[in-house]
Amino acid sequence: MARSSSPALPRVRLLATGGTIAGAQVKGARGYQAAAFSVDALIAAVPQVRELARLDVEQVAAIGSQDMDEFTWRKLAACTSAALTEASIAGVVITHGTDTMEETAFFLNLVVRSEKPVVLVGAMRPATAISADGPMNLYNAVAVAAHPDARGRGVLVVANDEIHFAREITKTNTTQVGTFNSGHRGLAGLVNTGRIHFYAAPVRRHTASSEFSLAAPAAPVSRGSELARDSQASKSRASSLPPQSPTALPRVDIVYGYAGMGRELIDAAVKAGARGLVLAGVGDGNLSAPALAAAAEAAKNGVAIVRSSRTGGGVVERNIEIDDDRLGFIVADELNPQKARVLLMLGLARTREIGALQELFFAY
Ligand code: SIN
Repeated sequence: MARSSSPALPRVRLLATGGTIAGAQVKGARGYQAAAFSVDALIAAVPQVRELARLDVEQVAAIGSQDMDEFTWRKLAACTSAALTEASIAGVVITHGTDTMEETAFFLNLVVRSEKPVVLVGAMRPATAISADGPMNLYNAVAVAAHPDARGRGVLVVANDEIHFAREITKTNTTQVGTFNSGHRGLAGLVNTGRIHFYAAPVRRHTASSEFSLAAPAAPVSRGSELARDSQASKSRASSLPPQSPTALPRVDIVYGYAGMGRELIDAAVKAGARGLVLAGVGDGNLSAPALAAAAEAAKNGVAIVRSSRTGGGVVERNIEIDDDRLGFIVADELNPQKARVLLMLGLARTREIGALQELFFAY
């Protein structure tokens, strides 16, 4: 039975979305089903969290994060923002599958306007596994969300005793518990059974200093339909918005580069209605000649082209091997393709101007 919390403890809102942290093995030690357990069951597995904070819990979704989508991002952003506006809430913890956690974390890092801690947490092993990593991860995540030193650092991810910034983290391994890596810029800090050590501050704009917002949807939001955009932004920037549904973030697809690549995938994405394309290019964001020709044509026709890299590290700079100025391309700077997609979706909801979009990639 869960121990009750002292009223002197900070209050933390726990939003659950599913993932392996809530997963249960169904056919022996290897197979499992994500999102099988409720958030209450997760807390019951680690009753010590109630010594760290008073927890309010809300089940926002119950999905594997491969099914995370704009609808759920928006719902999560709304629940997170609502929680953080409550004076008594110190921070928010979001349980989430690890597969697309970096995208959700970065999305929230751009649209949640608060200094209070927002911490995403997941697990690589299901709750019923031998040596499940979820309970300790959850314990550490609650400790971080309840801690005043976590304020002002943007959205964080806690896993495997590490604290990562939303912008820097990426998943690098299919199964190992040490899957998360924060590349060149490194960790925000470490957390050891609730003891927290912060080492760094975020380098780019985020949360409270972000220009993005999803407040006040302009139209009812429902799964499967186009989704509402910030009505303030719609009014003030109506002239620069793409002639698309006024209720959805613009469609942005990712096309992966490879040796011998043709133009077909880029053409198909444009034909399917993409307003923006992120190219996971080879090396320094490069593309074969046919793919480059297709991307240049798409850019000429008003599709925002962002060059990122499939390498997993490094900066894609302007005008190195490809003449971005002439072709009207944008470079992703340090963002990996999946995060570049998130920023481009939000950016395209505000402007189609290539220079302005490029500036976003240097600012966030
Ligand atoms: C998922 O992302 O929902 C499945 C994998 C995981 O949580 O580790």
